[in-house]
Amino acid sequence: MADMQIAGIAGSLRRGSINRGLLRAAVSLAPAGMTIETLDIAAVPLYNGDVEAAGIPAPVTALAERVRAADALLIVTPEYNFSVPGVLKNTIDWLSRVPGSILSGKPAAMMSASPGLLGGARAQYHLRQIALFSNMLFLVRPEVIVMRATEKFDANGELTDEKTREKVAELLAALRVWTDRLLGRSA
Ligand code: FNR
Repeated sequence: MADMQIAGIAGSLRRGSINRGLLRAAVSLAPAGMTIETLDIAAVPLYNGDVEAAGIPAPVTALAERVRAADALLIVTPEYNFSVPGVLKNTIDWLSRVPGSILSGKPAAMMSASPGLLGGARAQYHLRQIALFSNMLFLVRPEVIVMRATEKFDANGELTDEKTREKVAELLAALRVWTDRLLGRSA
C-alpha cells in the first residue's frame, strides 16, 4: 500500500524558527508507512475578498492542491499573543475558501514550541477553536507542547531533546491510527 501522506505546515516564516525545527524533527521521525511533506506558506497573500472575487491566487491554489491530496495535516505553530500567528490563520482562512471544502473531515494533528513555560498551549487550544468551522478533525492525544524550547534545540535549530523526540514519535503513531480510522481504512 502507498505511504500515508501528511502535509506539514509551520506557522512561522522565520528561518531559525523553533517550530520549523520541530516540523523537521517530525519529518525525520515519521514511522514506516508515513511520509511528511513540508508545505511553504510564505507566498500566501493576505486574504482579501476582492482578490478572491477575481480568482483564488495561484499560491493558494497550489497549496490547496497539496492539502487536498494529503491524507492528513500536521500543523506546527508558535504562540503569538495567546493565539496562532496571523500567517497561519490567514492560510487557514484562504484554504477554507477554496471550492470543495478541502479542510472538512481532514484528519489533523498539532504541535507547538515556545521559549516560555506554557509551550504554546494556548495557541493550540485556540487552533482547536479555529478548526471547528472548517471541520478539521484534530487528534486530541498525545499533546506535543514544547516548553522552554530554546533548551531543546541545538544551534542549527534541530530538536535534540530525547524525551521530546519520543513524544513527537508518539504523536505521529497516533496520527497514523487516527487517519486510518477517519478514512475508513484498517490500520
Ligand atoms: C511571541 N511569543 C510568545 N510566546 C508565548 O509563549 N506566548 C505568547 O503569547 C507569545 N506571543 C508572541 C507574540 C509575538 C508577536 C511574537 C513575535 C512572539 C514568543 C514566541 O514563542 C517566540 O518568538 C518563538 O520563538 C516563535 O516561534 P518560532 O518563530 O521560533 O517558531
